[in-house]
Amino acid sequence: MRILVINGPNLNMLGIREPDIYGKQTYADLCDYVKAEAEKFDVEVELFQSNHEGAIVDKIQEAYGKFDGIVINPAAYTHTSVAILDALKAVAIPTCEVHLSDVSTREDFRQRSFVAMIAEVTFMGLGFEGYARAMKYLKDRIS
Ligand code: DQA
Repeated sequence: MRILVINGPNLNMLGIREPDIYGKQTYADLCDYVKAEAEKFDVEVELFQSNHEGAIVDKIQEAYGKFDGIVINPAAYTHTSVAILDALKAVAIPTCEVHLSDVSTREDFRQRSFVAMIAEVTFMGLGFEGYARAMKYLKDRIS
């Protein structure tokens, strides 16, 4: 079972960006955590991060026929990107949405999620654990 974990813009700045909201751990720490959890669940995982909407669309398209599930934290594109929503709809790979912070308690402009329209489940406000919960959900859902 293969899962693609996609992280959107500014998540490469974890540890530096707004640590009061996103914590002090870095993107490298997140990658290590995701890989370790994936091993526990016996799933193969590939991590991808980009600050560019089109690169994320390309990666989702390339996942077609190669991955059984997608975990995505689209970051700011959550709230703006019809293109990422359409790409996820196009490949129709079971998808979970993750946010480190609890976006439901934050600014008005974060209250809309395009990806939530296709995601089977959203984990928010759990920090890194949201990624593990999403992988576990996909593992149980697909196997
Ligand atoms: C985020 C929440 C988004 O609103 C924000 O733009 C991010 C990170 C989160 O993980 O909490 O960049 O997706």
